[in-house]
Amino acid sequence: IGYGEIGYELKKKKLHKNIGISIQGIDLSNIDNDTFQEIKNLWLGNLIILFPNQNISDEDHIKFGKRFGNLEVHPSLSHRSSKIPEIYRVSNVDENGNIIPNKETSWQYLKQSWLWHTDSSFRKIPSNGSILHGISTTNEGGNTLFANMYKAYEDLDKSIKEKIKKLEVIHDHDYIISLSKELSKRKNKGDYVKLDPVIHPLVRRHPSTKKPSLFLSPHTMVSIVDYDYNEGRELLDYLTNHATQAKYVYKHSWNNHDIVMWDNRCTMHSVEPFDNNSIKRIMHRVTLVGDQEPIMA
Ligand code: OGA
Ligand code: MN
Repeated sequence: IGYGEIGYELKKKKLHKNIGISIQGIDLSNIDNDTFQEIKNLWLGNLIILFPNQNISDEDHIKFGKRFGNLEVHPSLSHRSSKIPEIYRVSNVDENGNIIPNKETSWQYLKQSWLWHTDSSFRKIPSNGSILHGISTTNEGGNTLFANMYKAYEDLDKSIKEKIKKLEVIHDHDYIISLSKELSKRKNKGDYVKLDPVIHPLVRRHPSTKKPSLFLSPHTMVSIVDYDYNEGRELLDYLTNHATQAKYVYKHSWNNHDIVMWDNRCTMHSVEPFDNNSIKRIMHRVTLVGDQEPIMA
């Protein structure tokens, strides 16, 4: 019998007034079609979902992700699982269980990737969403923050909305690297597939919900097209500061085997620092391939 037939109901709880819901009482390695549809709708409506207590294998993680479509393979070779390329290891620990030294390129890269961002904003077609499994987590730092970019847009003054409506932003994967002094100085910038810069609208319309949102990703945003460089930076910084106010942000403190999934088309996220020289933080992510270029709102 499927869950639907026995009147099974998901246990749901809001995480923050403006963003997020937690769902208890299911096993993500074994869900029927009705439950999948309900999860999908809750994801679109709440932007992020927390599933506590999901001690699932990488294979089941991938299987769940594939119900939403294809999965990305990340351009950074040093963070991919050597066994399963679709698993992106968001971790300060290598596959042998050793902490990656501070000066290593792969740690320098990861550290920069934890500034506010949306996943794969450096792609022409950025990711639809990400599903992150906390395998070894910490509560001494290492919290993950998620911002509701619909609401951040909605609350802007009318004059600013007018001003930014038709703007486009240049995003570049190399910008992540340029943010690290150590990495930019170095000849060997790491094992990354070189990607060309791309242009995305500053205000995008979600293809499913049809709602407009701010599309920011400070770790790849280089400049605004046809704008004075400094003025552009100022505007982008203003919008980033606005969008990351506590009223738009849910801060997640991890427990081991939490799975959090988010919609990259209407949120951005960041990770708080932690003592990466002594604490082992291991997260596995699968990333949903986007189905279209962002649409200007
Ligand atoms: C990610 C990411 C979040 C985290 O997986 O996309 O930015 O908490 N990391 O490690
Ligand atoms: Mn991310």
